[in-house]
Amino acid sequence: MANNIVVIGTQWGDEGKGKIVDLLTPDCSAVARFQGGHNAGHTLVFDNKKTILHLIPSGILHDNTRCFIGNGVVLSLAALEQEIAELDGIDVSNKLRISESCVLILPSHIALDNARELKRGAKAIGTTGRGIGPAYEDKVARRAIKLFDCRDPAQLKDKVEALVGYHNFLLENYFNAATVSAEDTFNNLLRIYQHIEPMVGDVTAELADIQQQGGNILFEGAQGAMLDIDHGTYPYVTSSNTSAGNAAAGTGLGPRDIDHVLGIAKAYTTRVGGGPFPTELFDDIGQRIAEIGAEIGASTGRARRCGWFDAPVMRRAIINSSVDSLCITKLDVLDSLASINICVAYDLNGQRLDIAPADPALFAQCRPIYESVPGWQATTESQRDYEALPQAAKAYLQRIEALLGVSIDMISTSPDRRDTIILQDLIHQ
Ligand code: GDP
Ligand code: IMO
Ligand code: MG
Repeated sequence: MANNIVVIGTQWGDEGKGKIVDLLTPDCSAVARFQGGHNAGHTLVFDNKKTILHLIPSGILHDNTRCFIGNGVVLSLAALEQEIAELDGIDVSNKLRISESCVLILPSHIALDNARELKRGAKAIGTTGRGIGPAYEDKVARRAIKLFDCRDPAQLKDKVEALVGYHNFLLENYFNAATVSAEDTFNNLLRIYQHIEPMVGDVTAELADIQQQGGNILFEGAQGAMLDIDHGTYPYVTSSNTSAGNAAAGTGLGPRDIDHVLGIAKAYTTRVGGGPFPTELFDDIGQRIAEIGAEIGASTGRARRCGWFDAPVMRRAIINSSVDSLCITKLDVLDSLASINICVAYDLNGQRLDIAPADPALFAQCRPIYESVPGWQATTESQRDYEALPQAAKAYLQRIEALLGVSIDMISTSPDRRDTIILQDLIHQ
């Protein structure tokens, strides 16, 4: 038995990571988020009950698994408080552990995020407006406030005054935007911190302990490969490394603590916000996929852009994250289509590219080279048995495996955690 597994998105986010983490959780001792913040929206469905999580790991519905928010996460205490309250009926106090080293997102980060977007005008990134980028900026600039700073109220007050003072200078003088109260920021931080303090600790040491006792860890990625700050479609990306290697840095464990990387991909592609998207559909098929797939953002309620499955994007994701195997989600969404396109490579001004280019200007010029395969026009919805899938659906999945050179271990056929075809038991293999 391994097995520390990293679950990551291999496209532009919203691949169905939450559902798969929820499904795998009962076999794991711990579930740990390692990057991002409440920009994530992870949807879990069981027995017609839907739970959308943003910061709290997607293992929280299960009693015997502990959930961890690692140091790589940027943490809004207000968002955390709200999410805990919304998890009505679930007592998180014995299950949730939060790294004392998390960088805090303050209201002034949110104000800066929104002011920056406004200033970019037509070039806006389309952020979630959650303050993610400005919080990571402060972390890298070594002026951020971390959760452990809340232990000393007098020092915290000084730090909040200094940081919010700096943010307010930018808001007022550079962005011509409304400022934020340092006093309210401090009071709210302290109030919520006092409430969550029993859950705060050294997550690295606790995860190491779990491993030492023979337990296993499921690392839950947020966002997706093409939103990675280094390897995505910069600047139309999020502000963290979304690739699997960050599961180590973002929890404090080492690279050898990762045994398997499971990449999650939709059977097609979606993207929320701005930026290039070579296989985007602007026709009725795109609309049909959006409607059947209910492609509305779980965090911001924005419509997701839809397009065909993109092998060059996947190949880069597989390299970036050492993806060992794939889970293909939302196969059922394609059920009604007469034919399906797969982007097998790009055409960049006459040159054939197998892997999405790193240079965003070149990426934006790539034209998809499609291979058309027959649709199955039969239902796969809620199917849990591979053999019962229509022949054309199996052929579609096999073509994806052949194009990417990675095996498909799981196939998801509805939002419900149980409606999943498991071809390989990753944990007991
Ligand atoms: P995440 O951010 O990767 O966790 O994904 P989201 O929760 O943002 O978006 C995935 C959406 O697809 C959610 O509404 C899920 O309930 C839904 N979903 C997940 N898997 C399937 C599937 O196999 N079929 C269908 N129809 N919906 C799915
Ligand atoms: P999950 O975990 C899809 C996108 C935003 C925007 C860009 C930057 O649910 O897959 P940010 O607020 O992070 O600075 O926004 O990243 N984005 C996501 N898109 N799924 C997500 O998370 C996302 N989190 C951020 O739409 O384009
Ligand atoms: Mg999502």
